[in-house]
Amino acid sequence: MQKIRRNDPCWCGSGKKYKDCHMELEEKLTQFRRQGAIVPTRALLKTPEQIRGIKESARINVAVLDYVAAHIGPGITTAQIDLWVYEQTTRLGGIPAPLGYNGFPRSVCTSVNDQVCHGIPSENDILKEGDIINIDVSTIYNGYFSDSSRMFCIGAVSPEKKRLVDTAKQCLEIGLTEVRPWGFLGDMGQAIHNFAKENGCSIVREIGGHGVGLEFHEEPWVSYVSKKGTEMLMVPGMCFTIEPMVNMGRPDVFVDANNDWTVYTDDGLPSAQWEIQVLITEDGYEILAW
Ligand code: MF3
Ligand code: CO
Repeated sequence: MQKIRRNDPCWCGSGKKYKDCHMELEEKLTQFRRQGAIVPTRALLKTPEQIRGIKESARINVAVLDYVAAHIGPGITTAQIDLWVYEQTTRLGGIPAPLGYNGFPRSVCTSVNDQVCHGIPSENDILKEGDIINIDVSTIYNGYFSDSSRMFCIGAVSPEKKRLVDTAKQCLEIGLTEVRPWGFLGDMGQAIHNFAKENGCSIVREIGGHGVGLEFHEEPWVSYVSKKGTEMLMVPGMCFTIEPMVNMGRPDVFVDANNDWTVYTDDGLPSAQWEIQVLITEDGYEILAW
């Protein structure tokens, strides 16, 4: 880390002297690091200006998901949802972040039933009564990234599927009770994992959440099978997703060899996921996208 003197302007661009801005926080970080904690680099601590930009991006992301929520139903194809996401995002001045990301061919991920994540919208996939689907929307606006996803039940779904969808949503609420500055990401991970297990579900181990804001996927990688007191320290200014993938059956998954994207459960049982984007603040957190 670059050495800054007390009276130099702070690196974050606030215009304040370092001693009146990030100095105290970084002294605390140094102490944690000395005790062996994983601490974020400066690049992960968003400045006030960056936070403003990320919030604008997130506002579009939420609006796009609200649009999907108002129109989704039986008989809709996932390709139709892809078109909605493209049209609504661009109408609001944004760019769908998935489009062309590492070769991803569409504007949104649509994952139905035993598809865990990264489902690719298709004209051939028609939603029918009883399906559950995750719609994962990510937006670039003015260079800032946002990312959130929701589950939708198509018509009446089985009680087991409804319970899975509800459990996955409750995982976020449980996780948020452990989200606070100077806690550890593992505090949240363990709370989510315990809750899922108590409800007879499992959590996918290989895929997790991520830092987000200046890029689509930043450090840290966020596990939901981690242990209390481990993983990265949560520090004001950090922005990341909470997005546990919750399986009705076993946690094991595989990637579709035909497209190298879509992740399925090994046992063919359904999977559910809700995703929010949070910012760590001085005294807690803010949910930026949902
Ligand atoms: N939105 C997904 C996430 O939460 C990322 C999808 S990558 C894509 O990380 F290319 F498929 F969009
Ligand atoms: Co994400």
